[in-house]
This record gives sequence, C-alpha cells and structure tokens, in this order.
Amino acid sequence: MKNSIIRLENISKTYGDTKVLNELNLSIKKNEFLTLLGPSGCGKTTTLKIIGGFETPDEGNVYFEEQCINTLPPYKRKLNTVFQKYALFPNMNVFENIAFGLRIKKLPSLEIESCVKDVLNMVNLNGFEKRDISSLSGGQQQRVAIARAIVNKPDVLLLDEPLGALDLKLRKDMQIELKNIQKQLGITFIYVTHDQEEALTMSDTIVVMNNGLVQQIGSPVDIYNEPQNAFVADFIGESIIVDGIMHEDFVVEFIGHKFECLDKGFDKMEAVDVVIRPEDVKIVEKDAGKFNVVIDSVTFKGVHYEMVAHTDNVCDTKWLIHSTQKAVEGSTVGINLEPNDIHIMKKLSAEVGDSYEEK
Ligand SMILES: Nc1ncnc2c1ncn2[C@@H]1O[C@H](COP(=O)(O)OP(=O)(O)OP(=O)(O)O)[C@@H](O)[C@H]1O
Ligand SMILES: [Mg+2]
Repeated sequence: MKNSIIRLENISKTYGDTKVLNELNLSIKKNEFLTLLGPSGCGKTTTLKIIGGFETPDEGNVYFEEQCINTLPPYKRKLNTVFQKYALFPNMNVFENIAFGLRIKKLPSLEIESCVKDVLNMVNLNGFEKRDISSLSGGQQQRVAIARAIVNKPDVLLLDEPLGALDLKLRKDMQIELKNIQKQLGITFIYVTHDQEEALTMSDTIVVMNNGLVQQIGSPVDIYNEPQNAFVADFIGESIIVDGIMHEDFVVEFIGHKFECLDKGFDKMEAVDVVIRPEDVKIVEKDAGKFNVVIDSVTFKGVHYEMVAHTDNVCDTKWLIHSTQKAVEGSTVGINLEPNDIHIMKKLSAEVGDSYEEK
C-alpha cells in the first residue's frame, strides 16, 4: 500500500512446535492508531517485537516506508517501544530516566531540559523531575515509561499493554490521555491489548488476532457491528452464539423457530453461527414474542440489568440479556428479535458457540 509507514508481508514465526504467526499481512498507515487485539498467547507481543527488530521472522518481510528493514537493528529503526514490563532505570530520578535517550544523542542540556519539561507536561507529571522511580506509584511509573519513549519523537511508537498495571479508573483516564498525546504528536501508534473495550475506545483500526492468524481488520464500529466470524463477535463484546440453518436468503432457523434476517448468499440449508448481542434481545410479555424464555438470574450492572435465561423448549439454549427493564427471576417472558438483531456467520469450527460463554 502506497501510504503505509510499516508493512508486514507474509510474516511467519515458529517457536519449537508452535507456529505463533502464520503468514501475517498487515499495512499500517502514517499517523494511524492501530491496535493488535486478541487473547493471551495469540502472537501480539511477537508481532510487535518483529516490527521493533527484537525478533526475526522465519519467513516474510518487514517494510518501513517501503524499505525492507529485516536486517536493520532495533536502535536504527525510527521507532520506540513501551514494553509490557516497562523497564525504568531504578537508580535514576524521573528527569534522568526521560533524558537518557537525549543524552545519548548528545543534545545540548538546555534543549534536553525543555524537551523533558514538555513531555512531563503531556503525561501530567509536572514537578516530578527529581523524584526517585521507587517512590512513584505504578501508574506514575507507567507515565514515565511513556514520556521516555515519546521524548525521542519517534515516527512510530510501539506500546505493549502499557496500561495493564493500572486500576480501572486510571486506565480509562490514561486511555484518553494517550489518544490525545498521539493526536498532538501526529505519530503512528501500534498498540497491543487484550482488552476489547480499550481497543474500541482508542483505535482508528483494530486487528483482531487469534492463534497467530488475523481474524478481521477494521474500524472499531465495523468490528463491533459487522464481526466477520463468531470468534470476533464473541471476543468483541458479549454475544449469544447459537447454531442455525440458512433455509434460503433472509430466512434462518434456530432454537426451533424460523426468523427473518438480513443475510443472503449462503447455500440452501447451510449450517451457520447465529450471533446476537445481549443488548438487542427485547423482552415482552409471555407468549407475545417470537419464543419464550425462563429467567434464571438477574444482576444489576449499573447501566442495565444482566439476565441469564434459557429457552423453555427442547433446544434449551442459554440467553444473555441486557436490558434497562427488569424481569423477575423464575418467571417466563417472551423474546422478540428484529431482523437486524440477527447476525449470520459462516461456521468457523465446532469450538465456538452453541450458547454464550461466561467470561
Ligand atoms: N522466546 C520464546 N520462546 C518460545 N515460545 C515463545 C517465545 N516467545 C513467545 N512464545 C510463545 O508464542 C506464543 C505467542 O506469544 P506472545 O508473547 O506473542 O503472545 P501475546 O499475544 O503477546 O500474549 P499476552 O496477551 O499473554 O501477552 C505463546 O504461546 C508464547 O508462549
Ligand atoms: Mg504479550
């Protein structure tokens, strides 16, 4: 792709018997906030290390502005990394930690001082210059690690779960701050997380990975609204996944009923995965909906009630329902689904689905 800053071409990497990356292709645009998202062990850190030059791929090429950089050592690549375990220098204060890279470049001290001041301002650590690293909280240390990386003004910043150690509130604040920093600096961020909400909040583009394979690449809205398969649907937000049969275009059967849907192009009677978001399930009076369920549990979640229910027919499928309307535990209610609440996906494998899985 013409305007890509980094491009991965058919990258494969095997450790022992495990193929960690399998012909990975990825193009990252200038100034893009791109997130690698996937479960633990899917190959996110390995991908980042290959981009950073800390690992060599067995096969494939890495390009920086269309120059192959396979053999270029990390320190010559125009990028900086914030590692999963941020390695600050414990014997240096905050100022010296951040100034380290600039001192190596032999910048004049006045310039170093002003650069460090600027980035401390960006990460909200004004006045922390003289503090020892050991006297900082985890969140503050993480900000120093980020400051130390951005002070070098890299073209690309690689961030491996940089907010992993923070509590939820601080994590959310830092997500917004990091996004602002990225916009302010106008640099490319390649961000790794296994937290789908974080990916949806921050990214321009999300790459969903599983077992070293890209499952889907798209904007947060696309990935959430139009997941390409049941794995993506299940990983991005909670989903009810049931087995279905496509009778013909726009008609699917599941849990013993036929439903109108918006999908077409499947074989006649093709087995499919049917994905439904818990917030799209509409509760109505008993017998007034398309089918009935029995409410097993009701939990107040702040914004909505979360209800677990099961169908009262032979299919006995579990349903997860998010609604501001509360049903009574043990009661039978009706359920309605509109055609656009029903998402039909090609069957991936037997391991995903049947019903939602509790996370
Ligand atoms: N140096 C290594 N030697 C052997 N196996 C490795 C090595 N590095 C990674 N692996 C294996 O490769 C797989 C992918 O690891 P990787 O660190 O890329 O996962 P990840 O997606 O970053 O996971 P997490 O979310 O847990 O950080 C794992 O199964 C891991 O055990
Ligand atoms: Mg990792």
